[in-house]
Amino acid sequence: MSIILIGFMGAGKSTIAKLFSKNYIDLDEYISKKFEMEVSEYINKKGISSFRKIEEESLKSLVGKHEIISTGGGIIESLQNQKFLLNENNVVYLKADFNCLLQRLEKDKINRRPIFENLVRKELEELYYKRSIIYEILADEIIDTTDKKVEEVLAILKEFY
Ligand code: S3P
Repeated sequence: MSIILIGFMGAGKSTIAKLFSKNYIDLDEYISKKFEMEVSEYINKKGISSFRKIEEESLKSLVGKHEIISTGGGIIESLQNQKFLLNENNVVYLKADFNCLLQRLEKDKINRRPIFENLVRKELEELYYKRSIIYEILADEIIDTTDKKVEEVLAILKEFY
């Protein structure tokens, strides 16, 4: 069994997965190690469709092998992944208000995100609402992380699992 964290960029998926279990895997980190380049570099060099394919393969191959998996915000862009996640029983959606996510993303200077950098605010907001519906449908549990500290989110997740 693997807990799979989904949610928009800035939701805290990677941070929570790392704190939840030593046996965690971060999909972006996994892809980055495998191809020996940052995800942003991969997307810029090989294109977003190629990245989505890699995400599909990676997700499938890692589920069941780790206690918790953090995914990239765009994991649900692929229909194949949507079907896959629908059949999984431990999908947790880390949700947050758009403005809260925006603040977190603007503060995060370390992690480069082409999707965030290349879109204007209105486009990002549209993407947020489009994806939010899908995250909600696929989720078995939803945690609202808006204005919550990491420790609080972690405690809620631990109540579930
Ligand atoms: C993406 C989110 C990123 C990363 C890539 C694409 C997206 O992950 O996978 O830059 O399409 O939303 P985070 O959600 O961890 O930022």
